[in-house]
Amino acid sequence: MAEDAYFLGIDIGTSAVKTLVVDARERPVAGAEVALATDRPAPGWSEQHPDLWWQAVQQALAEMAAAVPGVLGRITAIGLSGQMHGAVLIGQDDRPLRPAILWNDGRAAAEATALNAMLPDLGQIAGVPAMAGFLAPKIAWLRTHEPETLAATKRVLLPKDWLRFLLTGEFATDMCDAAGSLLLDEARRCWSQPLVEAVGLRLGQLPLLLEGPDISGRITAAAAAITGLPEGIPVVAGAGDAAAAGIGIGAVDDGDAFISLGTSSQLFLTTADYRPNPAAMVHAFAHALPNRWFQMAAMLNGASVMAWTAGVIGVPDLGAALDAVAARRRDISSVTFLPYLQGERTPHDDPAARGVFFGMDGGVDGFDLLQASVEGMAFTLVDAVAALETAGPVPATLAAVGGGSRGRFVMEVVASALGRPIRRYTGGERGPAFGVARLARLAVTGETVADVCVKPELRDVILPDAGRQAALAARLPLYRDLYRTLKPLFSR
Ligand code: XUL
Repeated sequence: MAEDAYFLGIDIGTSAVKTLVVDARERPVAGAEVALATDRPAPGWSEQHPDLWWQAVQQALAEMAAAVPGVLGRITAIGLSGQMHGAVLIGQDDRPLRPAILWNDGRAAAEATALNAMLPDLGQIAGVPAMAGFLAPKIAWLRTHEPETLAATKRVLLPKDWLRFLLTGEFATDMCDAAGSLLLDEARRCWSQPLVEAVGLRLGQLPLLLEGPDISGRITAAAAAITGLPEGIPVVAGAGDAAAAGIGIGAVDDGDAFISLGTSSQLFLTTADYRPNPAAMVHAFAHALPNRWFQMAAMLNGASVMAWTAGVIGVPDLGAALDAVAARRRDISSVTFLPYLQGERTPHDDPAARGVFFGMDGGVDGFDLLQASVEGMAFTLVDAVAALETAGPVPATLAAVGGGSRGRFVMEVVASALGRPIRRYTGGERGPAFGVARLARLAVTGETVADVCVKPELRDVILPDAGRQAALAARLPLYRDLYRTLKPLFSR
């Protein structure tokens, strides 16, 4: 491989578009992050217009080109990643027909319930029962509530695959993102005709299915003129963000497990074969490499709940506020927080669930609430481990990646709640863009997965704190009882 080869990863995140260019030795050369806003047109709804993603991608590329002149011209291959499950509907004129309906949108709850009733083996075929945020129930929702949109739909895409169309003119997706549609036959890695028909779609409306490192197309002259990317360089299929993060930290072999703490959070376990566990609301999806799958507990309320609490208590700098909480050295907050600001997927499948601060007396201050929100988020990871453990063991040590894993205090709470050491890697916060830059590299260099998808250098291991671990273990039953007790009230 040419020593001067650069690889670009683009991640259409929920809170930002992130781009990263790495060189042949995986050193970061340039990176940019352009924030994205989310529209909430009704309670529990969540939308972004695909045009916003394209503008943000152009801006991110322009920022990298300005910071590192000539960088775009040296890129030899591109990988795409993005938020999973979003419904992007494209009309006859190849334009989005409406804003994308995102992964954390709860409007299709009734449709998800109806799909599960109509197709009792759906969870076995598609890797998880239908839940509101997935693409398939949202298509069913459109059939009832916006039939004119569905009638005008030429193509249904996942978020990053709209970007692929703009860059290459091709309609394609990767197996992991396809899995998140709930229309994939996971074991066979092909679209499931019965599922596709059940939501009223035709196979011809869905993108071509590729494995993560497959070349999906090449940068067109028009895209090159707009972005400054070299015309003709390959764009690989890439991966939904969950699997892309796994590729980035080398979680590619059976038993490799990690926690990803971004806007949402996931507990991810690579499996050598397809192991569905629908009863526990575990997602068993195709990984971004051929012949590999993963099991995932997917929680809708990750590091974003800490940022939300910081906003509510009026602290502008979350990092500094968490340092202040840590400095108080309290094993546990006096307050218990249910962090279900956006409903919850694993283990509850409950789009109606909401956030709750419980047990406040007049002495409670903002830092108590912030500590409670870190603990509530950590408890969701405890429930995630319990969900995965219904089918098999979860490793005794877990890696952690994502922006939320940067803070030491947060990781100490997580390690203590889980009673497990947490490993952090150098560059672990690089995230999905780095993972798909690796897939791009695989496509053009002829290297093997074992050569490229290696685990990064270990940065540190965060151990549980004995006092905190005991306090959190004693609080866990209350946390769980609170949800169980309040569940019938959330939908009132
Ligand atoms: C995974 C999930 C999130 C989204 C947004 O199931 O819903 O990871 O992909 O990041």
